[in-house]
Amino acid sequence: MHYFAVKKGWLWCENVRVVNIAKKTGTPVYIYSHRTLAEHYLKINAAFSGIENLICYSLKANSSIAVISSLAKLGAGADIVSGGELYRALRAGIPARKIVYAGVGKTSEEIEAALKKGVSMFNIESMPEAERINSIAGKLRKKANVAFRVNPDVDPDTHHYITTGKKENKFGINISLAAGLFIRAHKKLKNLNVTGVHIHIGSQITKTGAYVEALKKITVLISKLRASGLSITSLNIGGGLGIIYSNEKPSTPAEFAERVLPVIRPLGVRVIMEPGRFIVGNAGILLAKVTYIKKGENRNFVILDAGMNDLIRPSLYGAFHNIIPAQPAAKGKMKADIVGPICESGDFFGKNRVVPVLKEGQYLAVMSAGAYGFSMASNYNSRRKPAEVLVKDKKFFVVRKRESYEDLTRGECIPGRR
Ligand code: LLP
Repeated sequence: MHYFAVKKGWLWCENVRVVNIAKKTGTPVYIYSHRTLAEHYLKINAAFSGIENLICYSLKANSSIAVISSLAKLGAGADIVSGGELYRALRAGIPARKIVYAGVGKTSEEIEAALKKGVSMFNIESMPEAERINSIAGKLRKKANVAFRVNPDVDPDTHHYITTGKKENKFGINISLAAGLFIRAHKKLKNLNVTGVHIHIGSQITKTGAYVEALKKITVLISKLRASGLSITSLNIGGGLGIIYSNEKPSTPAEFAERVLPVIRPLGVRVIMEPGRFIVGNAGILLAKVTYIKKGENRNFVILDAGMNDLIRPSLYGAFHNIIPAQPAAKGKMKADIVGPICESGDFFGKNRVVPVLKEGQYLAVMSAGAYGFSMASNYNSRRKPAEVLVKDKKFFVVRKRESYEDLTRGECIPGRR
């Protein structure tokens, strides 16, 4: 579901023709639909309304402060993984008490900052990390609320780069070792309140079975922990809900909740969820312009002014994104690879695509680019990061300017020169 639609050949975002945005900002530009992301958040919220819950938007999917602030206004919390994300979450208006902090490599500086700001909870991934948080909390005379992230060893059937809950992955504490570790931490690390269990089994998961399987294992673990005197009051089930890029058929949040809540409800815990892609994935596009049409010996290339530095998902994961004209195009069709200007053969958005006969200057939209698009963008080939625009009904707001050439060398210097 989203509020991008083609009418008489023109692509609209809500009530704005996207080409009108490009005329103001230039291309490439990310365009987000506020209504789409808000409705997605509200759908998850509604699905879990029958149980005490906290929906922590996973900032890594799209950490534009305009996006975060839109969700903050609806009551969302944040799932963060770095000091930078802590800064962004607070800056966008998410209260610290609604922030959960995950990640395998939190540094001492990051832990200290998060404790001082009063984040709700740390999701701890190893015993050394637990000891580090315990000692920093001691120095600050604070008690840290913590959950341990458990690796339940289930297969969520998604791309291997974004599978995180199998025992060969670096994440979490192996389920077979978890009980011992929780109990040790609870007894020995006096500056920690060990009150939560966290799982996150992967991303772009379209079937609910692996969650149910993981949660059943977690139920057994929680009973063991409670029998040993721990008071477990929260269960964080991570993110991972899949979206439609082409012909996937993901469960809706309501269907998802219907399957997982019967397993969770008897535990009497507060549920925390960390959705990222589900909220913003279909809420964004990358709008680009055709620079050249290059006819090769056995294939055509449509060369865009956007590259893998702007959207790396096709290059990195072989991910499919639909690519459509944003303005009326010729009736005939052509087959082409849609590529960027970067000096790598991996710089493509789609291969062997059937598209209308395109010409130079034509605007094209790479769809479903709201999640892990701008947030994974880089300056490779010294390309400036694109602009970002948030559309609200008939209005649009440039929420991030395109970088300037000066931005590219900010902070650099040449030795001996002032
Ligand atoms: N919670 C934790 C602990 C995570 O590691 C992640 C994502 C999420 C929540 C949010 O997952 P989501 O609901 O967005 O699936 N760059 C990849 C996806 C990497 C996901 C990393 N962790 C992509 O473009 O497909």
